[in-house]
Amino acid sequence: MLGNFTYCNPTKLYFGENALNSLSAELDKYGKNVVLIYGGGSIKKNGIYDEVTAILKNCGKNIAEISGIMPNPTLAKLLEGIEIARSHNADLLLAVGGGSVCDYAKVVSVSVNCDDDPWDKYYIRFEEPECDIAPVGCVLTMVGTGSEMNAGSVITNQDAKQKIGHVFADESIMPRFSILNPKFTMTLPHYQMVAGIYDIFNHICEQYFSGEDDNTSDYISEGLMKSVIASSRIANKDMQNYEARNNIMWTATWALNTLVSRGKTTDWMVHMLGQAVGGYVNATHGMTLSAVFLPYYRHIMPCAVEKFRRFAVNVWGVNPSGKNDVAVAEEGLNAMESRMKELGLVMNLTDLDVQEDMIEHIADVTIILKSGYKPLDRKEIIEIFRESL
Ligand code: NZQ
Ligand code: ZN
Repeated sequence: MLGNFTYCNPTKLYFGENALNSLSAELDKYGKNVVLIYGGGSIKKNGIYDEVTAILKNCGKNIAEISGIMPNPTLAKLLEGIEIARSHNADLLLAVGGGSVCDYAKVVSVSVNCDDDPWDKYYIRFEEPECDIAPVGCVLTMVGTGSEMNAGSVITNQDAKQKIGHVFADESIMPRFSILNPKFTMTLPHYQMVAGIYDIFNHICEQYFSGEDDNTSDYISEGLMKSVIASSRIANKDMQNYEARNNIMWTATWALNTLVSRGKTTDWMVHMLGQAVGGYVNATHGMTLSAVFLPYYRHIMPCAVEKFRRFAVNVWGVNPSGKNDVAVAEEGLNAMESRMKELGLVMNLTDLDVQEDMIEHIADVTIILKSGYKPLDRKEIIEIFRESL
């Protein structure tokens, strides 16, 4: 395994159907002023809001709320939340929701004591905070992003039609604690559940498809991918299957909590393509990835046949005997394509309302990373978007 690295992940996890019982002990560690952050109302419908607020009140907390965090949270919404957190002198930001809510809480946490414009500072100049950071806790209700145990935060600037993520280097920006109860995810609509499942799978791929050394992270990744494949088939047929949903929740956290990226160069180009689309048409994150993934991987496969062959054999169980390496690699991607269709994922950008005449503009805002098997140029990006239509 190559590379020098540091590994530190300070997020404390409470997992399982009784996980919320641990919230009060965590709340005791922080001051009185809690800002409760949540989305568009799912937690009010499924009762999680009532459970959490009852615990906050029992602990004697002084609660302010930032509600209505939308999927793909916007800069305008961020500016509104920073003001609320400031005027409440927040001692803790408690995010109750999915990746959007958790990401939002993290960027509020690094902006509440900072006078700079958060978009310019964190998403254009990619600076690290120099100010005091308000601690974040998370009660997760949607599975996929790994935001519950990482320092990533993705924000959309609607005026610029740009969606950009910043993975902060400072691990104190990771949630101090996260409460993971798979039952809280049971009310997710099928569309969101499968989008999250694909997000998990793609996070693992983005790290796996890089480097040529023999790397422990790749073996862990193969195990995680096999778990997602097995559990997603069960959950797709029976959304209330607790064991499958439990495995999916746990796998999501490990797919993007900094573990399997250790010693890897990583790629992340599928996310750059998907984010550019998401910033333009405001689509569900996982579906923006599923729509571009196959054209991208079919495009880069000739530059990494050996790794794609390994993926086919070790992850998809392709029998390599009597076949050349490219044929085995292609069979793996074909197996993946049919499983994605079985899950009901979006396989074309047209289904996300992307039109041919938008492609040049989307390509203009696509961030090009160079660490994958084949660094792309603008022409190739346009080609991949066209193939994804
Ligand atoms: O807003 P509410 O009403 O709560 O509804 C949400 C939302 O509409 C709903 N939902 C969540 N939990 C539910 C539920 N509905 C019923 N029952 C529940 N238990 O699901 C919808 C989607 O929620 P959202 O939080 O947007 O989904 P997700 O977790 O996929 O987060 C997406 C955001 O995370 C970013 C994405 O770019 C996107 O902005 N990402 C963050 C990453 C990170 N921090 O490392 C990495 C990812 O690659 C990703 O980029
Ligand atoms: Zn993702």
